[in-house]
Amino acid sequence: MRTRILSAVVLLLACGATVHAEGKPLPLDRGELDRRVVKIVYESALLGTEVFNAGKHDECLGMYRGTLLAVLPMLDHRPKLAASVKEKMDKAKGVKAAEGAFLLREALDDIQHEIAPGPKPDPKTEPKVEPKKSTLWERLGGETGVTKVINDLLTVAIEDKKVNLLRDGKYKLDAKGMAHLKKMLLEMLSEVTGGPLKYTGKDMKTAHAGMKITSDEFDALGELLVETLKKNKVAKADIDELMKIVGATKAAITESKEN
Ligand code: HEM
Repeated sequence: MRTRILSAVVLLLACGATVHAEGKPLPLDRGELDRRVVKIVYESALLGTEVFNAGKHDECLGMYRGTLLAVLPMLDHRPKLAASVKEKMDKAKGVKAAEGAFLLREALDDIQHEIAPGPKPDPKTEPKVEPKKSTLWERLGGETGVTKVINDLLTVAIEDKKVNLLRDGKYKLDAKGMAHLKKMLLEMLSEVTGGPLKYTGKDMKTAHAGMKITSDEFDALGELLVETLKKNKVAKADIDELMKIVGATKAAITESKEN
């Protein structure tokens, strides 16, 4: 079997030897060398697939390994690619033949894709796909969006008797106090939704200690928050995600009347 593997690799590499009609070797530029490397890995992957599908996983693995060993020295100008190929070859040593063949096939594909990437999409004809905003913070509109939500929420919450935000006038939030509360809420929402600001305030139990906030008051504030998010055109899924996070603070914030 070893002989068959070797002859397959030698056959593949044969296309890499360029000899002039008079027997003098022609110098190869990098572009030409790259083209040949791509051809070699392509042919190897093709042949390997056939061998693999015939159930000869060992043979396929050996062929891929031979091909990669042979082309590695020609990847010296692409050190990142060469390193990732080497890494996959090392990984393939300790696993079953079928798994190893898959790993080495990946390495062959990596070489092909990096050296001969497919046609680049034409920006004029390709439909523009908006990248999905990755964090809830971004989807809420980042600092501008979240600040707006907090301002809107506090405006209605302060007036709402069911919430009783200022605890029957016990808390008198002057401009400074209000600015502080807004800053703390912004930092907190940033921290829990993947934003860049870190929360620097008190933990929720300490911040609300002695306020005797009931479950109903907490829920009433939650309802106002949902309304506010809706008004600010936040998507339903994002509202649900945020309300789950906020809901998780309920036990720390609420107290039974007897406490
Ligand atoms: C009905 C429910 C709630 C009431 C009545 C309430 C009331 C208050 C009041 C009056 C303050 C100001 C305290 C002070 O100036 O010393 C405060 C602070 C704060 N609250 Fe609430 N709150 C409620 C729910 C929530 C919720 C759901 C969150 C967030 C999940 C929250 C986050 C905060 C934060 C971050 C602070 C500032 C803490 C600090 O200064 O370090 N509150 N709350």
